[in-house]
Amino acid sequence: MFATVAIVGAGPAGLLLARMLHNAGIDSIVLEHRDRAYVEHRQRAGMLEQGTVDALRACGAAGRLDREGLVHHGIELRFDRQSHHLDFPALTGGRSVMIYAQTEIVKDLVALQLAEGGPLLFEAEAISIEDDMLTFVRDGVEEKLGFDFVVGCDGFHGISRAAIPGARVYERDYPYSWLGILADVPPSCEELIYAHSDRGFALHSMRSPTVSRLYLQVPNDTDPDDWPDDRIWDELDARFAIDADWKLMRGPITQKSVTPMRSFVTEPMRHGRLFLAGDAAHIVPPTGAKGLNLAIADVVTLARALQHWFTTGSPDLLNTYSDACLRRVWRAEHFSYFMTTLLHRAPDQTPFDTRLQLSQLHRIADSRHAAAELAENYAGLP
Ligand code: FAD
Ligand code: PHB
Repeated sequence: MFATVAIVGAGPAGLLLARMLHNAGIDSIVLEHRDRAYVEHRQRAGMLEQGTVDALRACGAAGRLDREGLVHHGIELRFDRQSHHLDFPALTGGRSVMIYAQTEIVKDLVALQLAEGGPLLFEAEAISIEDDMLTFVRDGVEEKLGFDFVVGCDGFHGISRAAIPGARVYERDYPYSWLGILADVPPSCEELIYAHSDRGFALHSMRSPTVSRLYLQVPNDTDPDDWPDDRIWDELDARFAIDADWKLMRGPITQKSVTPMRSFVTEPMRHGRLFLAGDAAHIVPPTGAKGLNLAIADVVTLARALQHWFTTGSPDLLNTYSDACLRRVWRAEHFSYFMTTLLHRAPDQTPFDTRLQLSQLHRIADSRHAAAELAENYAGLP
């Protein structure tokens, strides 16, 4: 087997890359370790920056997103039992964000790839990458795939990263995780609510006008079975409490899972003909809602560089790929760290630390400059 571009992983990064290359007339083969149902139902991100929406539109993958996505013009911050609205268009010169689940993006891109694109092989696990040959296992049989370029879009637990010799890794773990739930109940808010409280962080997000997505900060190694539904709703109630009249609607919880928080970057994101994109190269804690958006930004940069190479023969954009991506990645790393440490309560948190958090939160509520800094980073830098 041979593909001009071999793509490892059918998450948002690998699928969008395949779609963009297809539109540019460059053939690819996508290998995905899991089956189709698994990748289409894995609950993850929901908040899309304008640039992400634009990229999906530009490649003809936004039909359903444009019908079903929810445009949000800001977020709400809660602390000290008060609520503060950040108006993104006013603070950023007109930018907004969109709520549309990662599961739906993956479904849309898988359907397009199967209908119009090159091969997308499910249950095909890449096991090694050499200079111009990739080895994968399908139905218990080892197969070889030759390529001109190979792109590791295989997420944090993939194998591609290890094929970059001498890579440098930067990382940080956090002493807390998120317990995430999906509930069949209309959202109790119009915008996402990020809540700081002395009981820890909580986030109210959504998936549609009838499905809510909520998160609670919990200790690492929390077992979701220790959190019966009533305990979750009671804790959410306590953390979102404000002095104004507001009520959190409860409904049947259909999914529960615990996610650890991590910051991670590997440099460089390229070695010869191997390129890394998305979670394979970098991870952020989800508080800034940046992971999926970074993955899409990498892929847009890479597709452009590959297209430039195939149309002009110039390696210039391939050569600057890693540095161009890492500049954006480190900005998102800082922002995600900032949002995480601003809003969570560390196990060894002192009253002094809490006072600093509250001082910064008040600064964001009171100063247009501080609010604009948050809004620009959240809504996405060009
Ligand atoms: P992945 O989605 O991880 O896809 C990698 C694919 O590679 C997988 O399908 C995997 O099965 C496959 N694979 C792995 N190894 C192999 C192999 N050896 N061979 C073949 N295939 C392989 N981001 C945001 O931007 N906004 C948010 O609101 C947000 N919220 C989040 C909430 C939670 C709870 C979590 C966990 C994450 C959130 N993220 C968010 C992050 C976002 O989900 C990820 O950054 C995104 O999935 C990265 O996409 P990817 O394609 O790089 O990797
Ligand atoms: C989500 O909707 O899953 C979501 C939204 C915003 C975040 C993290 C997750 O910061």
